[in-house]
Amino acid sequence: RASTEELHDRIRVAKQELGDRVVVLGHFYQRDEIVQHADFLGDSFQLANAAQTVPNAEAIVFCGVHFMAETADILAQPGQSVILPNLAAGCSMADMADIDSVEEAWAQLAELYGTEPDESGRVPVIPVTYMNSSAALKGFCGRNGGIVCTSSNAATVLEWAFERGQRVLFFPDQHLGRNTAKAMGVPLEQMPMWNPNKPLGGNDEQGLLDARVILWHGFCSVHRRFTVDQIEKARAEHPGVRVIVHPECPMPVVDAADEAGSTDYIRKAVAAATEPTTFAIGTEINMVNRLAAEFPQHEIFCLDPVVCPCSTMYRIHPGYLAWVLEALVRGETLNQITVPDDVAEPARVALERMLAAKP
Ligand code: 13P
Ligand code: SF4
Repeated sequence: RASTEELHDRIRVAKQELGDRVVVLGHFYQRDEIVQHADFLGDSFQLANAAQTVPNAEAIVFCGVHFMAETADILAQPGQSVILPNLAAGCSMADMADIDSVEEAWAQLAELYGTEPDESGRVPVIPVTYMNSSAALKGFCGRNGGIVCTSSNAATVLEWAFERGQRVLFFPDQHLGRNTAKAMGVPLEQMPMWNPNKPLGGNDEQGLLDARVILWHGFCSVHRRFTVDQIEKARAEHPGVRVIVHPECPMPVVDAADEAGSTDYIRKAVAAATEPTTFAIGTEINMVNRLAAEFPQHEIFCLDPVVCPCSTMYRIHPGYLAWVLEALVRGETLNQITVPDDVAEPARVALERMLAAKP
């Protein structure tokens, strides 16, 4: 087995040989051994944008998870290939909404609400998918007047959707949907969870009649670990601590924190602090540890005392990066992510609506 140093050398040599022909994108949750080789590091929104801004690269090597690589392929130029170094790097939240279940829910909602717009031209339901979803779901949104959001623009996207629809079907992450809609003033009673096992036609139709946002039952197993108890403990042990969490955390955790925002929001908040500050962060551990190393003037720790990595992000190991880069040097494209045209076209429509939806 190659030592880590050997792997780093092999990656550097391959990248040098490939020059501008390859661009390595890395998400903030990647381990340090990968981040050091990334040409661009960012949150999922920034990485989707970055994939569009490297028209001269023949290959985009995406160090992140499967749905991010799919998005890059949808937005990349024709002829550019997108490579995911380890095909087992998925996202368990994205897997919680499959296209068949969403189509089924959509058909039932059409039966309940009809499909005709109201007097102001707003359709009964607008589908909104979190970036953390399969390309098929993004395509579904593109075909049905819907849109994609990320954790950095969810409120802007929901506003876009409320202008065009009477209510929203939000999937897969219930927490991002609930936290965002609550901050916009939507009452919790108007955010029922879609229950696939409860047929429509009874009582008050599962609370759907007054719904503004219908939430899917997905969640992130990393962010679900954060608790209000951890925040209370941090406040007791570190008076003056600033608590920042990702909006994939459950609502009581977001409510108990001082701030909530995307991975880029968290990074910028730390970088902008001018006075030495204690930060308790509720997000993935690789990112928190990197912030702690990068900003030694602050005390920065993860709210969860038990290490909480995203196990699938962690599957991008330097060995895989070396493997796909060396293959490119030999003229071989391994682990290419290709979204078929009939899915990519409507998915691009939904993504472009997001990229154009400015606050
Ligand atoms: P960001 O959009 O904040 O990068 O988050 C992506 C993600 O997967 C968080 O779990
Ligand atoms: Fe998916 Fe959660 Fe990992 Fe983000 S942290 S990629 S939502 S499993």
